[in-house]
Amino acid sequence: MIERCQGNIRPKSGPRARTAVVLAAAGLLAVTTAAFLPGTASAGTTLGASAAERGRYFGTAVAANKLSDNTYATILNREFNSVTPENEMKIDATEPQQGQFSYGAADQIVNHARSRGMQVRGHTLAWHSQQPGWMQNMSGSALRQAMLNHVTQVATHFRGQVVAWDVVNEAFADGSSGARRDSNLQRTGNDWIEAAFRAARAADPGAKLCYNDYNTDDWTHAKTQAVYNLVRDFKQRGVPIDCVGLQSHFNSGSPYPGNYRTTLSNFAALGVDVQITELDIEGAPAATYRNVVQDCLAVSRCTGITVWGIRDTDSWRASQNPLLFTGSGAKKPAYDAVLAALNGGSTPPTTGPPTPPPGGGCTATLRDATRWSDRFNSEVTVSGASNWTVVVAVTPPQKISSTWNGTPSWDTSGNVMTMRSNGSGNVFGFTTMANGTWTRPQVRSCTAS
Ligand code: XIL
Repeated sequence: MIERCQGNIRPKSGPRARTAVVLAAAGLLAVTTAAFLPGTASAGTTLGASAAERGRYFGTAVAANKLSDNTYATILNREFNSVTPENEMKIDATEPQQGQFSYGAADQIVNHARSRGMQVRGHTLAWHSQQPGWMQNMSGSALRQAMLNHVTQVATHFRGQVVAWDVVNEAFADGSSGARRDSNLQRTGNDWIEAAFRAARAADPGAKLCYNDYNTDDWTHAKTQAVYNLVRDFKQRGVPIDCVGLQSHFNSGSPYPGNYRTTLSNFAALGVDVQITELDIEGAPAATYRNVVQDCLAVSRCTGITVWGIRDTDSWRASQNPLLFTGSGAKKPAYDAVLAALNGGSTPPTTGPPTPPPGGGCTATLRDATRWSDRFNSEVTVSGASNWTVVVAVTPPQKISSTWNGTPSWDTSGNVMTMRSNGSGNVFGFTTMANGTWTRPQVRSCTAS
């Protein structure tokens, strides 16, 4: 079945997307007109498909021991296109004895997700909590070394399988101090966070590296400002960081703030992706869930949302009933609100368009999207210009087989694509046939015209 489109070709999550542009025999591309038939079964009717339509993912935390629960797996497989292991990649799970690594439960989740085309967020490489006993008892340079070895080993094991890592989790203190949280890791020296990021980059250069925390949602809070300053400092000094995770556990003591969208867009303006990584909201009010989704959609670098569990009974805060499905697996009003928001029209940004960098340039950021056994999608977000030209290269024998939201042209090799804006917005995408090579496509340039 082929997608019905009016005007723009929009990103789809399945092979039906490959109608926009077809690779011709000589390595050149010919634009074809899509045949018009009724729409797909899934687009717009599940969280993952609807988020993909907006160039984003919709994920959930997953517990390995629940994958055999039929109701759980059915909802997971139907609704979500991203997965975060809830506990299975934490330090106590992956290195229970020093130097002895254990990946069974994490691998189970990764395999479940990736064999179904879902992406995986890795959580988490360095954290003061859920440390194994041996690590809790360590300090000083021995602990620093052990932490870096852990980051290296785990990121290496999952290299190429994890789209984004929460490299460091919860390193700042609550309250008004804006200080680092005291922990054994912090006591190894203030540079422990950047050391962890550098080790993660070296071990898995293809993964996005995130700093993740809670109570960093309200722009006015000292903790939010402290994380903002850390990210700004890292970007200025060239410490590798690609994203900021806002856990966004909302409840009466830590409610959804009215300036949440401002927080998302201010982090994004530092040149990092923003991800909502552990969303749950006490009582699951539909209006608040809707606001969170609309806020993310209003910020182009808010690349996805993960809820921290599937059914209320799966939640770490089950008594708050904070999730999108009831204990028996029924959709709650919050589910309907989230789906409608994902399917809704574009929401006006609270802040104006970004100022173009000097010299008429723009910034193009490529992220991995859905992956299948033979091909994968990439999405490129352009900031700084509305009329843009972006050059992207794939690695032979890879071939781009379809594109959306832009007008492509090709060099004679067929490996370098020049994509021009066509009025469809600032996110374009393409599908690459891997032909055995899974190297991430490279953005070569972005030019404003
Ligand atoms: C929680 C899990 O959901 C629980 O199962 C576990 O007992 C404790 O950790 N911030 C985080 C997550 O980054 O890893 C935490 O997950 C919730 C708070």
